[in-house]
Amino acid sequence: MTAEEMRNFFGGQGLRPELLAQAAAFREANPWQGKREVNAPRFPYFGTEILTAALTALLAGANLLLAGPKATGKNILAENLAVLLGRPLWNVSFHIDVDASYLIGMDTFKGGEVCFRPGPVHDCVTAGGICVLDEINMARNEALAVLHSLLDHRRQLEVPGYDRLNLHPATRFIATMNYGYSGTRELNEALLSRFVVIHMPVPGESELTSLLKYEFPDLRETVARTMAALFLDLRQKYEAREISGRALDLRGLLEALRLIKLGLTAGQAFSMGLTGKCFDLQERALAEDIIALRLPADWGREEIFAG
Ligand SMILES: Nc1ncnc2c1ncn2[C@@H]1O[C@H](COP(=O)(O)OP(=O)(O)O)[C@@H](O)[C@H]1O
Ligand SMILES: [Mg+2]
Repeated sequence: MTAEEMRNFFGGQGLRPELLAQAAAFREANPWQGKREVNAPRFPYFGTEILTAALTALLAGANLLLAGPKATGKNILAENLAVLLGRPLWNVSFHIDVDASYLIGMDTFKGGEVCFRPGPVHDCVTAGGICVLDEINMARNEALAVLHSLLDHRRQLEVPGYDRLNLHPATRFIATMNYGYSGTRELNEALLSRFVVIHMPVPGESELTSLLKYEFPDLRETVARTMAALFLDLRQKYEAREISGRALDLRGLLEALRLIKLGLTAGQAFSMGLTGKCFDLQERALAEDIIALRLPADWGREEIFAG
């Protein structure tokens, strides 16, 4: 889908026309002319209520925190919102050992002269992009300090050794926070108070089926439902801490279906896409059992795809 087709798609998904009109007005008031493209993401986000809440918050100028377990579509939602606002996205991952100078930028030598090399946050807030602060709860304190003036009413970036920079007015922030059953690093209150929060629902059977049918229009209807049920089984075992999050991999499930379409058996494909990601033998056996209960290992293209 192009960005335009994706925006139209949401009209059909029941996103309110007034809200779509407000988003269109935002795009018109803030036309994007930069080099970076506004790309439509791989998937639409399925979940009209969440999409409505999130888009409303961003149109109101709020910073958005998406909190939820793995594979609830946090990053996909952020990408969808960027398309609706017509601004490109900068993804800043806090998962790695990110420090302030990486985020903002630093002085470097170029041809014997000192010059400032901007970091991703600097680039994003000068261009007025959508800044995804990914897994913000993993950030080191030093990196968090940068965010405080950025995210409150000052809307300024302090560049050490240089001036304060006012954010481009179209700049929006979407933070994501993974929390699981194996413990969560929390955000401090000062930072949390700068956000509105959406707790991301776990995709249920209907969202999963829509997603599968979107990706594979020729997937048999009954199989689509089986796949959704299978993924929910895996999630249940994950929540009960019987398996880790490794096999709870929606991307891996889609990949497995792609392999089946190209001729592998369900057993081979699911082992490569999902259960092979469990390196603990016992866990792998358990994940394999869960799948075998729903899906015969010798099924292939004919049983799974129509036509
Ligand atoms: N409601 C949803 N709508 C669309 N895709 C979803 C949804 N929930 C989960 N997904 C899918 O789950 C996978 C992981 O999504 P991602 O955004 O990376 O999740 P998270 O960041 O929450 O771990 C993607 O393939 C995405 O398409
Ligand atoms: Mg994510």
